[in-house]
Amino acid sequence: MGLNVAMIGTGFMGRAHSNAWMSVNKFFDLPLDAVLHTVCGTEPDQTRAFAEKWGWRHATTDVQALADDDEIHLVDITTPNDLHRPHATMSLAAGKHVACEKPLAGTMDDARAMRDAARTARAGGTRSSVWFNYRRCPAVAYAHRLVAEGRLGRLYHVRGQYLQDWGGPNTPASWRFDRRRAGSGALGDLGAHIVDMARFVTGDEIVEISGGIETRFIDQRPVPGGTGSAPSTVDDCVLFLARFRSGAVGSFEATRLATGNLNRNCLELNGELGSLRFDFERMNELEWFDNTVDAGRRGWGTITCTTAGVHPYIDAYWPPGHPIGYEHQFISQAADIIRELDGGSAVVELPDFEDAYRTQQVLEAALASARQGRAMTLADLDE
Ligand SMILES: NC(=O)c1ccc[n+]([C@@H]2O[C@H](COP(=O)([O-])OP(=O)(O)OC[C@H]3O[C@@H](n4cnc5c(N)ncnc54)[C@H](O)[C@@H]3O)[C@@H](O)[C@H]2O)c1
Repeated sequence: MGLNVAMIGTGFMGRAHSNAWMSVNKFFDLPLDAVLHTVCGTEPDQTRAFAEKWGWRHATTDVQALADDDEIHLVDITTPNDLHRPHATMSLAAGKHVACEKPLAGTMDDARAMRDAARTARAGGTRSSVWFNYRRCPAVAYAHRLVAEGRLGRLYHVRGQYLQDWGGPNTPASWRFDRRRAGSGALGDLGAHIVDMARFVTGDEIVEISGGIETRFIDQRPVPGGTGSAPSTVDDCVLFLARFRSGAVGSFEATRLATGNLNRNCLELNGELGSLRFDFERMNELEWFDNTVDAGRRGWGTITCTTAGVHPYIDAYWPPGHPIGYEHQFISQAADIIRELDGGSAVVELPDFEDAYRTQQVLEAALASARQGRAMTLADLDE
């Protein structure tokens, strides 16, 4: 049986998702075959060329046509953050399953509307999910299992950092630097990933945020291909502290100006019985410190997470020691989406809009803490 997918957006994520949908049934044995049915872009010639290159059967620039098309089962949203809400609510209302890029939305209002639309749709059997792809790195999924098995014991510290350096003064203006389109800068772009990863790996929830710092270093950016400059209206970095329900404490840092760090999506956990450390720049590895061995042999070790049957998703790919890459997280997520839509279980829990809303609340609390200079409890934001 086929799962007819429509995808909106033909940029960076449009390419990553196209690759995922076209590869997923080649790597995974699944109950449904993904069909690249229709891609929707903004410019007709470019969208047609994209469709031809990536194997989409139809190309359109009319988003409403996706909702109106009875053949389409799932709408995959890879558009800028301000479009997540209209595209998702339109699709859910039309009875389409939705897989939406992160962050859930640029604003809390949008996020809440999406969560509510997904709740209503879920009652009718329509599913939502969000592409928090880093959960599906085998090393991250394995870290989650180690914590769930109690291998770290009582958790003390959670340290999340997402460090990139592409956001310097010569980087041209784009939707990513426009608050009206993106909602926020490094916070929604990078902070969303580390908050989701921390929540997922610990299985714990953040209950309080304090010490928020929000800074913009670059106020004007060159207009692409033109002369002059445009205002940059988002944060370049956000840092904050967190308390978890279990009593663990956390620190988070998201920045696009950490010179020398290309895509260092890092998480470190320190527990009573051990510690673990992940850095996406070495995505096939998980560092592990076992505090239960005798003091003379204690030390950090590196696990290469490429063993089938042990490290999640690896069965679908290559033999031990043959590393996988960025794109495999998206292929694995597409596989989990298909499993769930067929009534099965994802290998790693898929965050739905309800779950992504909780991550969005943490981001909102971080901003509120930075702007109001005080601690914010998540319960204050609950509704
Ligand atoms: N999961 C990840 O690791 C990850 C990485 C990068 C981006 N993202 C997210 O993916 C989303 C898109 O980011 P990107 O890097 O692909 O951006 P991008 O600028 O490369 O692509 C955005 C695409 O949306 C299209 N678009 C804009 N308005 C549209 C409309 N009205 N109808 C149809 N198409 C429209 C544009 O033509 C473009 O192809 C954002 O929400 C971003 O936060 C996620």
